Amino acid sequence: MPINKKNIGIEAIAFDIPQHYIQMTDLAEARGIDPMKYVLGLGQSEMAVSSPCEDSVVLAIEAAKQAIDNFGIDASSIGLVVVGTETPIDHSKPVASYVHEFLELSQECRVVEMKHACYGAMAGVSMATDWILSGRNKQKKALVIATDIAYYGVNTPGEPTQGAGAVAMVISEQPRLVEFEIEFQGYYAKQVMDFWRPLYKKEAIADGHYSIDCYLNALGDSYQMYKNQYFEKNDKIDNNFNKIFSASLYHVPFVKMAQKAHIMLLGQDWGMQPARDSEEFQTAKNDYQLRVAPYLKLNARIGNIYTGSLFLSLYNFLADASESMTGKSISLFGYGSGCSAEFISAKILKFDKRLLDYKDRLKKRRKLDIVSYENLQELWKNTGNKDGVFNDEWELDRQFIYLGSEDHKRQYQNKFKA
Ligand code: CAA
Repeated sequence: MPINKKNIGIEAIAFDIPQHYIQMTDLAEARGIDPMKYVLGLGQSEMAVSSPCEDSVVLAIEAAKQAIDNFGIDASSIGLVVVGTETPIDHSKPVASYVHEFLELSQECRVVEMKHACYGAMAGVSMATDWILSGRNKQKKALVIATDIAYYGVNTPGEPTQGAGAVAMVISEQPRLVEFEIEFQGYYAKQVMDFWRPLYKKEAIADGHYSIDCYLNALGDSYQMYKNQYFEKNDKIDNNFNKIFSASLYHVPFVKMAQKAHIMLLGQDWGMQPARDSEEFQTAKNDYQLRVAPYLKLNARIGNIYTGSLFLSLYNFLADASESMTGKSISLFGYGSGCSAEFISAKILKFDKRLLDYKDRLKKRRKLDIVSYENLQELWKNTGNKDGVFNDEWELDRQFIYLGSEDHKRQYQNKFKA
């Protein structure tokens, strides 16, 4: 059955990150590892570090507030709030209900938290798209937020792939940035133990190398499903199908993963996986440099923000892509361990680039030495383990701050209202 034609896409986007970071070369030195392993081997140059006052609610609210304010969205037009996160603050109460309260959204609103590891926000985007497509939105808009603090623990193999941040997007029938190509989509699911976090642990557990294989399997199959749908409508098939996308954006647990993903997809088109020292591998790597790497600057300097990392790359793309890309297609691949994945595409619209900026935000961060980082990680690990309020000792330049809990209720300082 043909899908109803509606213009659905992203009307607004913004992100928020912690105000501290570390340099990956410092971390490597402290761990007695060749710094080039982190910088070239993983592709990471810096890593965001949350203070206890910057929880997943704070990051989500700051990102959402900016998306609404910067793009002049009427808050009363929001009829659905979905927060994708694997950093919940409660077994029961969702991050989304705090977002709803502090942004003073209408009570005629669906509000929910979505969890499937790093797939949560992509699932939120699809839910919002389907909600609008069905017409049950009644012209209202959806606010989809990805917010996470990636934490594997000090001195673990996952440590250099930590990070934290949130991306907020308004999905509507008046897209200003990209319009989803809703007739094609690929998805995939399979139960695997590649990455998980039991309820009693703050640290994630990863079977690292296996998780990379799971990611690539999920990518290959969801891409194939997308291609099959595309070919049903377009009879022209060639072995450079991927080139229909002017840019290919991926879930980015670490930058090198996007390179592995892209080379594998091109190999899938060619019907062979290129060996590392082959000419084909170099061709695929050159293509990665052209269509993927330019949009990973934020990921390289922030680290893994789990469910938001694909959309951080999208933000980077929107801020940096040349105007000549208007009207062209990009692909977006979301992966959540466990696992679920989705491959979609979107058309780039013409918009005012001044709405997007990340350079100043990165400049304003404060660098930590490794001992201070380890102390902060220890504090963050213990935050929320018991009732009690604390002060902002980190002099955060924020409107909204988490200050612990009193009588088992989370306490936030909200200067937006002051
Ligand atoms: N100079 C340059 N490169 C070097 C180097 C050096 N001195 N030393 C090593 N390298 C390279 C290696 O060759 C390797 O590159 P290739 O993969 O291209 O071969 C790279 O650096 C990493 O080296 P290792 O594989 O030896 O690193 P590791 O064993 O310490 O583990 C990791 C890396 C598996 C990513 C680990 O950090 C980890 O477990 N991270 C968490 C799990 C994760 O991010 N999984 C991703 C897929 S799952 C997902 O996407 C969901 C999610 O968000 C978590």
